[in-house]
Amino acid sequence: MLRTAARQLAASGRRSGAAVSGDARAIGISQAQGIGQRGFLDAIGKTPLIRLNKLSEETGCNVLGKAEFQNPGGSVKDRAALFVVEDAEQKGLLKPGGTVVEGTAGNTGIGLAHVCRAKGYRLVIYMPDTQSQGKIDLLRLLGAEVYPVPAVPLTDPQNYNHQAQRHAARLDNAVWTNQFDNTANARAHFETTGPEIWHQTAGTVDAFTCATGTGGSLAGTTRFLKEASQGRVKAYLADPPGSVLHSYIQSGGKLAERAGGSITEGIGQGRVTDNLAPEIELLDGSVHISDEKTIAMVYRCLDEEGLYLGASSCLNVVAAKEVAEMLGPGNTVVTLLCDGAYRYADRLFSRRWLEEKKLFGAVPEHLRRYIVLP
Ligand SMILES: Cc1ncc(COP(=O)(O)O)c(C=O)c1O
Repeated sequence: MLRTAARQLAASGRRSGAAVSGDARAIGISQAQGIGQRGFLDAIGKTPLIRLNKLSEETGCNVLGKAEFQNPGGSVKDRAALFVVEDAEQKGLLKPGGTVVEGTAGNTGIGLAHVCRAKGYRLVIYMPDTQSQGKIDLLRLLGAEVYPVPAVPLTDPQNYNHQAQRHAARLDNAVWTNQFDNTANARAHFETTGPEIWHQTAGTVDAFTCATGTGGSLAGTTRFLKEASQGRVKAYLADPPGSVLHSYIQSGGKLAERAGGSITEGIGQGRVTDNLAPEIELLDGSVHISDEKTIAMVYRCLDEEGLYLGASSCLNVVAAKEVAEMLGPGNTVVTLLCDGAYRYADRLFSRRWLEEKKLFGAVPEHLRRYIVLP
């Protein structure tokens, strides 16, 4: 059936003399979203910008979320993964048959695993042994060699990041991609995420906000939007509990000791990374978002917008709402929807887990029907 329909579409295009791009427009697919020659790699980025209608109504603003969960590896980190690998290739550090090594328990590892398969590299991942078996299994089934090592602080030479660095140094034709301090990560967002947001809003974006793990997405996107708008677009860091960056910005540059923690994954930072450092001065401010607000937004996004999002995305949405309220009606505020809830469902929608984290009460009463797991 489908094949017949596709043939008919192609035939009607030939009969009418329409160019292929004309057919593509007729079914709403731009050439930018068409078939790239680089396979998986061409499917990274160019994600939709979704209007969050309820929050837009509430604030009188356009609150927009960039659907990074639609990247082929499932998260915003696909962009950084591609750029750090291609940076190593361009610098001659990685040649065909080489090995990529990274210290990560999360989305960067998944993004790297996809990119390495697509490019034919081996991938070695070091991670703290406190991580779930599910994460280890996923990376292994994506072809990575995984080393869970004791969870010790960054100051300890046995920390997983240092072990990753040493592993790469022991091999020929291998690179430690070093996502935190390798600025090819922020460049991914300067060259792709920022320009996409600028074009998708036709230059009408007024503010951008998101949380930071490595800081790559906030720094690169901010720099592009500031440059494109000649400084008009405002940028705000969104910070979870347990991160030091909000107090760093509010205090005008004092780095406090890390204290407390958050249920969010992939975000929160104890230092200013090399990715964030050049751009931190460009920020117009920061917002601190509690886990209670983040959890409530997980359920609101699901119920009101039909969006099944992970906690870091929902923290970003709360931040976008607060920035919109701060700037007032008529503004266009953009944030990132970093990944979906799939990997976190057994926690975010479990009554036991919510009670354990003292977050059950944060779920609005009328939305508790979504707590479907015991
Ligand atoms: C789910 C999720 N959200 C947000 C981030 C933060 O992105 P960045 O490292 O660009 O600061 C990460 C990073 O790993 C992530 O995994």
